[in-house]
Amino acid sequence: MAIDGFASSVFMAPMAGITDQPWRKIVHECGEGNLISEMVAVNAIQFKNPKSYQIANVKDEPYPVVVQLVGNDPSLFAEAAKLVADLGAKSLDINMGCPVKKIVNNHSGSALMRDMPLASQIIEATVKASPLKVSVKFRKGWDSEHVNAVEFAKMCENSGASYITVHGRTRAQGYSGIADWDIIKAVKESVMIPVIGNGDIDSPQKAEQMLKYSHVDGIMIGRALLGNPWLLNQTHQYLTAGIKPIAPTLEQIKNTLLKHLALLVDYYGEKSGMAISRKHISWYVKGLYDAKAFREQYTKLNELAAAQDLVENFFTRVVI
Ligand SMILES: Cc1cc2nc3c(=O)[nH]c(=O)nc-3n(C[C@H](O)[C@H](O)[C@H](O)COP(=O)(O)O)c2cc1C
Repeated sequence: MAIDGFASSVFMAPMAGITDQPWRKIVHECGEGNLISEMVAVNAIQFKNPKSYQIANVKDEPYPVVVQLVGNDPSLFAEAAKLVADLGAKSLDINMGCPVKKIVNNHSGSALMRDMPLASQIIEATVKASPLKVSVKFRKGWDSEHVNAVEFAKMCENSGASYITVHGRTRAQGYSGIADWDIIKAVKESVMIPVIGNGDIDSPQKAEQMLKYSHVDGIMIGRALLGNPWLLNQTHQYLTAGIKPIAPTLEQIKNTLLKHLALLVDYYGEKSGMAISRKHISWYVKGLYDAKAFREQYTKLNELAAAQDLVENFFTRVVI
């Protein structure tokens, strides 16, 4: 089943601190695939916290963006739903899978998997208020003793979600261990709404394996995209036209990295943009010759011009 309103069955996973506007621009320039925001707290956008407002504001982006909300209060979700529509979101996702302590202790993210009545109220209130499609992203369950993804998926469907995404790990697993594709398959078999499978997809071939194994309607890629923004489009091309992925050239890596760096500085200002760029730069050069020394030098820099010089210099010396 194609997911209504989406041009591709390949989805970028939301990642706090990563899936910001500069990152979406970079991935979009690489080609196809659906894009998403970082999670944004419903109470923070409500009170116009500038950082949260910036995350939710996707008005200037010339491609569709799903905006993800996190929180625990149905009425705040309802108000935030209208706001994100005004701020340009194409569609709205509710985070019911985040394992981070700060979020869980606030009875949000994956904590809602232990409170189905509240989770249902949140979805219903959001669907009722939202002019946009509402989806839910959740996990296999809280821990190995409390695996409830199938019941949770049915609850999402009954509460009005348009589609759901399931990550095949429990909250207790965090990001460790192997994602359970059997639970993804079981979820797919239990509901009529479209299901996106998520967990451990790191190549177009692996995406195809998940589709064939679980018969999900779409797949979502997270960590494997880090330093590899080409992967979303490569996966789309492979699944739709059988085009085999070709590794980016050094020139492409350098140009993409420099563009990403410039976008970060433009969006956040030089100081914050440079700080945020460090992790991305490390991911881009991972595995390249002398990357460790390059990273150490890069970390000491605070100015864009110096960073650009260092990158140029590194790529004149680098060999694969
Ligand atoms: C650094 C990081 C931040 C994340 N932030 C979010 C988030 O804000 N919302 C969310 O639903 N999932 C978040 N996730 C989970 C991912 O969306 C995804 O479910 C998870 O990484 C599994 O997919 P993968 O195996 O393809 O990485 C995050 C994951 C990572 C690694």
